[in-house]
Amino acid sequence: MITVNEVTKGFGSRTLFDNVSVKFSPGYRYGLTGPNGAGKSTFMKILTGEVEPTNNGTVGRPARVGVLKQDQFAYDNERIVDTVVMGNEVLWNAFKEREELCQLTELSEAQMLRLGDLESIIADENGYTAEFEAGEILRGIGIPDDQHENLMSTLATDYKFRVLLAQALFAGPQALLLDEPTNHLDLESIHWLEEFLCDYEGVLIVISHDRHFLNSVCTHIADIDYDTIIVYPGNYDDMVEHKMQARQSIEADNREKAKKIAQLQEFVSRFAAGQRSSQVQSRKKEIARLAPQELKKSNIQRPYIRFEQEKPLGREILRVEGLTKGFDDKVLFKDFRLDVYRSDKIAIIGSNGVGKTTLLRCLIGEMEPDKGSIKWGDNASWSYYPQDYHQDIPNGTTAYDWLMQYMTDEGHQFVRSVLGRMLFSGDEAQKATEALSGGEAARLLMARMMMQKNPILVFDEPTNHLDLEAVNALGEGLSVFPGTVFVVSHDRDLISDVATRILSFTPEGLVDFSGTYPEYLETHRFKEYSRISRR
Ligand SMILES: Nc1ncnc2c1ncn2[C@@H]1O[C@H](COP(=O)(O)OP(=O)(O)OP(=O)(O)O)[C@@H](O)[C@H]1O
Ligand SMILES: [Mg+2]
Repeated sequence: MITVNEVTKGFGSRTLFDNVSVKFSPGYRYGLTGPNGAGKSTFMKILTGEVEPTNNGTVGRPARVGVLKQDQFAYDNERIVDTVVMGNEVLWNAFKEREELCQLTELSEAQMLRLGDLESIIADENGYTAEFEAGEILRGIGIPDDQHENLMSTLATDYKFRVLLAQALFAGPQALLLDEPTNHLDLESIHWLEEFLCDYEGVLIVISHDRHFLNSVCTHIADIDYDTIIVYPGNYDDMVEHKMQARQSIEADNREKAKKIAQLQEFVSRFAAGQRSSQVQSRKKEIARLAPQELKKSNIQRPYIRFEQEKPLGREILRVEGLTKGFDDKVLFKDFRLDVYRSDKIAIIGSNGVGKTTLLRCLIGEMEPDKGSIKWGDNASWSYYPQDYHQDIPNGTTAYDWLMQYMTDEGHQFVRSVLGRMLFSGDEAQKATEALSGGEAARLLMARMMMQKNPILVFDEPTNHLDLEAVNALGEGLSVFPGTVFVVSHDRDLISDVATRILSFTPEGLVDFSGTYPEYLETHRFKEYSRISRR
């Protein structure tokens, strides 16, 4: 059980949540939701103890809490099995220290004693069977025995993720906390994760913006809104329904009260002058009692995403011929041909590691193909949204100053207005870049794309980190954009809204399909099809 007692947190003048008391019980699976910047990651860090509340609120947590690490590349130089064992920090540190001591040629007495202590720590933490247990978990998540000794760098991204999950599970945690685990996972891996989490018996708390995922995993939703956190029973859709009804009923109640107050008020003003003073007094009391319930403003906001193009291009945008690229002995695509026309909106889909990012980077000249030619039409220019956007927004500046570098002839007024549309108004625009939440950073990058006004937009997984409102707004912005769009995405809703053409990495090679995503699904009996209809 995790108990939160009267916890308040805010930054500067802004309150994220005020005086929150909630309990999270074992056997239940909680989705932690709220729009970008609501404070989900911050709340999770308060749960783990990494961040302190602003007041003296307290958190009670079990002895063993498993936390999913965000950075899939952090362990590239470690062996897979070691990465899992690191999940038990006490044990791992004892192993390391023992190793160092054992390498010394001579040991002092204190060091001898320490060695004895370390042995007993290792025994207490079941160190002698650690590798065996890590192996069991690895087998369970689909990594065969002969790979356990390999380095993490040999695994594809989604398998790295699985190992990090194994790491979080290794110490047998009574609570498991995951911050946006489905980012960077393809549909098949998400499905695997859903089933996996549904079997977990401790307290599960998971942050996600993926509605489908939350619906299939969660028994409860803890929603951050109205400066507090409310736990609703049921899945994500149930929560939205419940929240809407609760709000509507308060609004109806308030309307009713306002009507009564108006009637009473009329009586009071008519007779205030003298007679019937006791009746006037009692009506005044009634008015005070009826005071409508204050409705706090919801923190749900939708950005306004519109891309314009300064100079429209001719009809032919791009011609690709004989494009081939591979790494080592793995061919990603071979002899690929593609003609792209203005107003094509191309979604690039396929499972993790098939080469989607590589294809994009070859097209925009950030990477050399092995063979083939890529010819862009005259004056072609593009804006690129990279998968790892952190590299583009350095620490040590503010949202406003960062965007000012890209100011055009339209001046700083335009920078302000783009920031406003992307929900950085007033103080928010002066926010330090290192404090930006995942979704805020993503919105800032899109603000840059809105200012650049290029006729070609290239996105690599833009919806990771974005909340539902922002994903919808992006879908809208891209579908009305008159130029050309390339977008790599696993987000079914976005692809369905935007794509007029699908490039799909399939086991038979790269398929170019002219048509929308629903049309594509109909013609290609795809594994995920049954999955979508199941939901
Ligand atoms: N150290 C800090 N100083 C100032 N503001 C901060 C700091 N850390 C976070 N914030 C702000 O607090 C708010 C909540 O941040 P948090 O990362 O918890 O949001 P989130 O709900 O996880 O959002 P997302 O869905 O985008 O990941 C954001 O507006 C963020 O900019
Ligand atoms: Mg977050």
